[in-house]
Amino acid sequence: MGLLDGQVAIITGAGGGLGRAYSLLLAREGAAIVVNDMNADAAHGVVAEITAAGGRAVASIGDVASPSAGAAILQSALDAFGAVTILVNNAGILRDKSFANLSEAQWDAVIQVHLKGAFCVTQPVFRWMKENGRGGVIVNTASSSGLGGSFGQTNYGAAKAGLWGFSNCLALEGLKYGIRVWTLCPAAATPMTEGLMTPEMRAQWSPERVAPVLLYMVSGLSGDRTNRTLFASGSKVMEVKMVSGTPLPNHAGFSAQDIAAAADRLFLPDTPLDFNS
Ligand SMILES: NC(=O)c1ccc[n+]([C@@H]2O[C@H](COP(=O)([O-])OP(=O)(O)OC[C@H]3O[C@@H](n4cnc5c(N)ncnc54)[C@H](O)[C@@H]3O)[C@@H](O)[C@H]2O)c1
Repeated sequence: MGLLDGQVAIITGAGGGLGRAYSLLLAREGAAIVVNDMNADAAHGVVAEITAAGGRAVASIGDVASPSAGAAILQSALDAFGAVTILVNNAGILRDKSFANLSEAQWDAVIQVHLKGAFCVTQPVFRWMKENGRGGVIVNTASSSGLGGSFGQTNYGAAKAGLWGFSNCLALEGLKYGIRVWTLCPAAATPMTEGLMTPEMRAQWSPERVAPVLLYMVSGLSGDRTNRTLFASGSKVMEVKMVSGTPLPNHAGFSAQDIAAAADRLFLPDTPLDFNS
């Protein structure tokens, strides 16, 4: 018995890197997989790997960033497997540039794939899950660049922090339909991070070390937990969340000078998010 017997998962950008590792593990646990990628050879390759191992999968080729592609990806799941119960918004690209040198095209390309892509694929899937009453799990992919910051990635960081906000809101809308929504913040040696990690790090930070965290999120092992963010790398798994500091009561109205005088109490201690160790 697999953890995902009877489940159908759509995984975007699943032709390589993390998406491939997610697809192989979820298929091993019994889920039927819709392998989306804009790279047809890569998507068909992952489908072949899954079917060779005795699993079920189909490819759905296309760029996630259009409503028609989102509808087509859902249709692939319905045509092949009659349902969708899991969606992993994983497709992504980088166009790194320091902000002063960033072009509009580099800004648009990144926002388009990550943010608009998540909208275009999630909306038809969410509607289907809502109307069909079986509930489901949606996982959106953020990044330490969005949640903690990273030099030269204002476009990517904005998109990734945007996905975190998207998750927070969608989780609330999904509650009454039994649709759980997670944010996964991965770090792994993939084609995307080629040249950004030492060989030692690449050996340890395999996508296969992140995939079990995704499996936890989408399986019954996480119960009814929703609206949470986990960071997962080759060296650790940790929750990441927004916290508020101690409130200063504002009964009489603050001047800017009052805020300055209270700054020691207002700001939380500066404990940096540690994503790298
Ligand atoms: N690898 C990391 O350390 C890391 C860190 C933080 C976040 N992420 C995020 O994890 C996700 C997967 O990253 P990865 O490292 O496996 O990257 P990757 O480049 O290895 O794989 C991404 C896949 O997405 C596909 N893709 C790109 N644009 C697409 C589009 N418009 N439509 C459909 N498919 C598209 C690519 O063809 C590729 O197969 C991305 O969202 C990325 O931003 C990765």
